[in-house]
Amino acid sequence: MEKLIKKARLAQKNSYAPYSKYKVGAAILTEDDTIISGCNVESSSYGLTCCAERVAIYSAITKGHNKFKALAIFTENGGTPCGACRQVIWDLCGDIPIYIADENAKVYETTSKNLLPDAFDGSMLK
Ligand code: THU
Repeated sequence: MEKLIKKARLAQKNSYAPYSKYKVGAAILTEDDTIISGCNVESSSYGLTCCAERVAIYSAITKGHNKFKALAIFTENGGTPCGACRQVIWDLCGDIPIYIADENAKVYETTSKNLLPDAFDGSMLK
């Protein structure tokens, strides 16, 4: 868990957030214990911004990983994932532990299910 948070913190340094100035780093732990990180990348057309969590998860999928064990998110003030990310985390990671860390070394530990109760997902499309 500490290593995962450290990677999220490192990724936060690469955040491209000239508009909001809110820097986010994320790191996802894969089934085979690989850690893949991501940061938020903003666009001047704000809606095209991609959150750190989704960048990390999509990067991991791109690298061939599709089972995940845990996710860490690092921001200055312990911001929790947005609604869109909660859906993507649930869809692609299932119910995993999520560590939300801040600059004061505070860690809020939760789960995907806790963040998105009664979720809609692919099981409803079959
Ligand atoms: N952001 C994330 O990276 N993850 C979230 O779950 C919440 C929001 C980013 C998007 C945008 O670049 C900035 O934080 C402010 O919304």
